[in-house]
Amino acid sequence: MQFPEPQRWRLSVAPMMDWSDRHCRYLHRLLTRHTLLYTEMVTTGALRHGSVQRHLRFNAEEHPVALQLGGSDAADLAHAAKLGQEWGYDEINLNCGCPSDRVQRGAFGACLMNEPLTVADGVKAMLDVVDVPVTVKHRIGIDRIESYDFVRDFVGTVSEAGCKVFIVHARNAWLDGLSPKENREIPPLRYELAYQLKKDFPGLLIAVNGGIKTNEEIAQHLQHADGVMIGREAYYNPWLLGGWDAAFYGDAHEVPSREAVEEAMVAYMERAFAEDGCPWYAIARHMLGLYHGQRGGRLWRQVWSDHKLKPLPPREVWQLARAALARGAVVSD
Ligand SMILES: Cc1cc2nc3c(=O)[nH]c(=O)nc-3n(C[C@H](O)[C@H](O)[C@H](O)COP(=O)(O)O)c2cc1C
Repeated sequence: MQFPEPQRWRLSVAPMMDWSDRHCRYLHRLLTRHTLLYTEMVTTGALRHGSVQRHLRFNAEEHPVALQLGGSDAADLAHAAKLGQEWGYDEINLNCGCPSDRVQRGAFGACLMNEPLTVADGVKAMLDVVDVPVTVKHRIGIDRIESYDFVRDFVGTVSEAGCKVFIVHARNAWLDGLSPKENREIPPLRYELAYQLKKDFPGLLIAVNGGIKTNEEIAQHLQHADGVMIGREAYYNPWLLGGWDAAFYGDAHEVPSREAVEEAMVAYMERAFAEDGCPWYAIARHMLGLYHGQRGGRLWRQVWSDHKLKPLPPREVWQLARAALARGAVVSD
């Protein structure tokens, strides 16, 4: 395997079910050339029994793009990873951090942290059949296990199977009683544990995730870890991504304006509709944060999320949104 340069993981946008789909990633790629983009989790079962094309297709523009898998059976993971490589993904990532009930019933996601040997078997099975990197995203603990040893032993065991990149969502998953949403908010963030992993395993790439919102915070974390993964803030405020290539990759190319990004998204909506009848609002929903914090942004957002406008072509909705933005800029919204 040709291992990519370590800066591949410097910044990434997190896997987010129902959010980080190919349309969302297309938007993000307009704003940053270098940031690694993760898919939503795709289960090994969906790839065995469902439509592979529906789950794996993506736009050529999205590279570098990583496929996140959910599963625990080594043969199923190998099958899914191989498909992922065949479809052109640059990385296969295993989800060991998702706490939802559905995932627990399938015995994968965060509860896999209790079974490092199962994860190691899965990683090894995937590495046996693909050339792209196989990475793991996980938590720092399960339920009330607070000790650092737990996550250290997990990473130690899984790295022995050949995984070199670990993305650490730096809070526990409480599997008893919290919803997935609460599990992203309530268990306290303990970044020091992710930093300690980097100290104890200097040969591994450790990226830190959870609650990171600003470029200043990203820069702070990069003092202690190889990479930073950002989820919700990237989704709610995609314009943040526009500064990343210059700030974190030393690539000061011109970033398109918000207006140019919006126009490119309208062209993309037209293309997606022509190609497979995809309605514009399935795409527009991901860009509602584009004018986050801008004058007129709220009125602009209302237009792009207005159900009554669904029958209109996106170019007309765009004109209405532009007019609303201009109105909002003078009549403070
Ligand atoms: C709507 C939503 C869906 C998510 N789906 C996944 C997922 O499919 N796989 C995964 O590993 N994490 C998932 N996560 C967790 C994120 O990847 C990330 O670890 C978490 O949101 C913490 O990062 P943040 O504070 O930057 O958002 C999801 C988060 C959100 C908000």
